[in-house]
Amino acid sequence: MKDTDVSRWPAFVRNDKGGRVTARPPQSGQPLSVLIDRRSLMISAAAVGLTGANGFVRAAAGDGDPPPFAFEEVDAFATAHDRLPAGYTRQVVIRWGDPLFVETPAFDVAAQTPDKARRQFGYNNDYTAFLPLPFGSGRSDHGLLAINHEYPLPQLMFPGLNADGAAEAISREQVDICMASCGLSILEVSKRDGEWKVDTASGHNRRITAETPMRISGPAAGHQKLRTHADPNGTRVLGTHDNCNGGLTPWGTILTCEEGSADFFAGRLDRHPDRAHMERNHYESTPYGRYGWARFHDRFNFDLEPNEPNRFEWVVEIDPFDPGASPVKRTALGRFAHEGAHCALAADGRVVVYLGDDWEYEYCYRFVSDRPVNPTDRAANRDLLDHGTLSVARFDADGTVAWLPLIWNHGRLTVENGFTSQADVALYTRRAADLMNATPMDSPEGFEPDPVTGHVFIALTGNEDRKVDEVNPANPRPANKHGHILEMMPPTVNGKPDHGADRFDWRVLLLCGDPANPADRATFHPATSKNGWFVEPDNIGFDPAGRLWVCSDGPGPRNLDGLWALHVTGPDRGRPHLFYVPPLQAESCSPAFTPDGTTMFLSIQHPGERAMNLSAVVTGWPDFVAGTPPRPAVIAIQRMDEGAI
Ligand code: FEO
Ligand code: CA
Ligand code: CA
Repeated sequence: MKDTDVSRWPAFVRNDKGGRVTARPPQSGQPLSVLIDRRSLMISAAAVGLTGANGFVRAAAGDGDPPPFAFEEVDAFATAHDRLPAGYTRQVVIRWGDPLFVETPAFDVAAQTPDKARRQFGYNNDYTAFLPLPFGSGRSDHGLLAINHEYPLPQLMFPGLNADGAAEAISREQVDICMASCGLSILEVSKRDGEWKVDTASGHNRRITAETPMRISGPAAGHQKLRTHADPNGTRVLGTHDNCNGGLTPWGTILTCEEGSADFFAGRLDRHPDRAHMERNHYESTPYGRYGWARFHDRFNFDLEPNEPNRFEWVVEIDPFDPGASPVKRTALGRFAHEGAHCALAADGRVVVYLGDDWEYEYCYRFVSDRPVNPTDRAANRDLLDHGTLSVARFDADGTVAWLPLIWNHGRLTVENGFTSQADVALYTRRAADLMNATPMDSPEGFEPDPVTGHVFIALTGNEDRKVDEVNPANPRPANKHGHILEMMPPTVNGKPDHGADRFDWRVLLLCGDPANPADRATFHPATSKNGWFVEPDNIGFDPAGRLWVCSDGPGPRNLDGLWALHVTGPDRGRPHLFYVPPLQAESCSPAFTPDGTTMFLSIQHPGERAMNLSAVVTGWPDFVAGTPPRPAVIAIQRMDEGAI
């Protein structure tokens, strides 16, 4: 396995097939300040556009509340087709199976092979980021899309396979196709005549799969519990999977989040040498795992390779501008069901990464780097995420949140409690957080700073198990099946939010549910329409004007998933508007905006997912061609008048 020295930022790099390509990574010395909104010390792809001439500049500069939403809500019902408000269009940018390279064969569901899948857009696209090209240019018509592929659905990928018994029936070749369909895609796109096109000849295009070699760095690298037969040093691992949401760093790398690997492994817990640790991370005894990978790949059988699970459930950093660079698992950011990794800055310029652990009763975390971001030398930030402090949140009844540092030999993280090093703290993150008495949450998902105010919003999808005597101020409803959204307010330094402060204020933005059902105790704005309310908030994303967009997770009582636009300031605070409904049994994920706010990229996952097999699907989205399965896809939404969304 050859590692790439990313410090050299070569002007020419090789693509996966050895051909010479002309992708040119950003050079040292190129200012990064365009990525950082100076007022709020916030970082986002959208912030790249704040220097451009567009309608959002004024709002982002602080002249009052964000502009109102200028669309008529769609009605809250789902069909085989997706639906948008009048005056908007959407196009499919790329679907599962579409070629990423010039020589990739056309998609044919009946003739897939692992080799083809490695050169195609993967399955179940989730996290989606747009990075303008050239790097830092703020362009809204040319860039890279970086997109996660979370998990396979073999029963909808292979004709003849049934959901029941798929793990037993799946073939070796089908498993390898699934492994090649997980991970990420990076692709170059540009807009011509209003239409987004993928450039299959681009040297930036890349697939990262469940078998791509990558490096492990930070405190847990080399830990005895990360060593395996294939990797006796515990520093190299094959692949990433269960990539849910993610984030962008100020230096233009992607953070992709491994949301939990238990489904991918098989084995018997009663034989495992570290059983309590496995159970704390929600592993169960299973003969094949959900996807059958362990039947053909011993490393996914934890009876045979007990430490392999410890090499997943990390945050992985990838440089999309260097297709030859090895992805790196950054263990300083802890090991748990990583939902996302959203960056901001401390007042002194250190990078802050907000991290949710998407599981009932799990925690909210924050990483703060030791060193500040170097805004003029990209290479100087190469290993910034290996050194810093991971903290966990305790939400107090007085309306403040304390960030409790997880530092070895501090507090209860001592040898007496089983922690012999910072490497142990990184590996056993959840147990460390338990000992620090952090606040158990209702499944933290989206965790995003507002680019205008710096307030940090946390979407929690819910926790039906929470008992009456387990409620706390930040998770105030027992049997919380509809979820809620919290808001954290960092203190300000010289008028700017300090995301590195030890203590923030917090409050509830809204409790979700049906406003017409008093038992739900929902707290939407009283003017919320019958279409406007939602449940199970999952991905959240700000547009460049500081307006929040919320994707739901799961169909809820109205049997629809959707994307709502939500004001978080001003007189309409807490009033959502339904903007988009994906096709039946699909989920819209991860809205990502061009810097000028005129295009929203949106991932549409698992259309028709509840079918037992391909003969029983309720939608053929987006192709609706006989013999072609429903296909997860990324769409681009634009206004017909070409204005901001
Ligand atoms: Fe993959 Fe927490 O959603
Ligand atoms: Ca999610
Ligand atoms: Ca989701």
